[in-house]
Amino acid sequence: MRITRSRWLKTGLPLAAAAFLLAAGPGVSARAGAPAQPPRPPAQITPDLAKLLGQIKQADSGLLAVSEEDGRFLRVMAAASRSKRALEIGSASGYSTIWIGLGLRETGGRLVSIEYDAARARQAADNVRRAGLSDIVQVVQGDAFKVIPKLPGTFDFVFLDAWKKDYRRFLDMVLPRLDGGGVFLAHNVVNKGKDMPDFLDAIERYPNLVTSIVTPSGEGISISYNRR
Ligand SMILES: C[S@@+](CC[C@H](N)C(=O)[O-])C[C@H]1O[C@@H](n2cnc3c(N)ncnc32)[C@H](O)[C@@H]1O
Repeated sequence: MRITRSRWLKTGLPLAAAAFLLAAGPGVSARAGAPAQPPRPPAQITPDLAKLLGQIKQADSGLLAVSEEDGRFLRVMAAASRSKRALEIGSASGYSTIWIGLGLRETGGRLVSIEYDAARARQAADNVRRAGLSDIVQVVQGDAFKVIPKLPGTFDFVFLDAWKKDYRRFLDMVLPRLDGGGVFLAHNVVNKGKDMPDFLDAIERYPNLVTSIVTPSGEGISISYNRR
């Protein structure tokens, strides 16, 4: 298991990831009552960034990346939820990662994004660097089932976009570490809903979760709010 930012680092995971996440400050629950911070300027979609996003899509022969509409939605959700400690499961080449990172640019938050495939993780880290988001996003290469237990603390924003049959297991693994007021988003809940009936059932039935499903581009994103 290795950690990538602008290049592969040799640092051990728990220490490096802990320092990276802690740099963002406390999550939602610990922020309650804290003095409001001045808003940060929004990250601009410069022509270079638009070009990079287009290049990632063009190179995505396996059609793994979310649509641009879904990416824009993730950005808005990360910014509007004032997320500080975000987690992405399934970076692929970093397309959704960059959109979430742009949202976090406005909140002062940090994102750890986990990708199993080593080549994709390298690409994701490189694309994050090219997007100018290396100070916000850390790509961790490894199996998220093994990486997540080693990450410190709690999360206030989670985006799940790994293999669909694993969604319920990831929900059950992460939910105890989702802050009160935090959001858990999952991709493809409409177009691949038949592959995750247990997950869809859980997000509707768990008493602490309030769920809505939106379809910016038809694939479907569930947003579950933790009212704990
Ligand atoms: C649909 S793609 C993600 C697309 C990405 N979110 C985007 O929009 O650009 C799913 C990715 O999840 C990764 N993946 C699947 N299971 C995983 C696991 N257990 N741990 C880490 N990554 C995993 C796959 O290797 C694949 O690259």
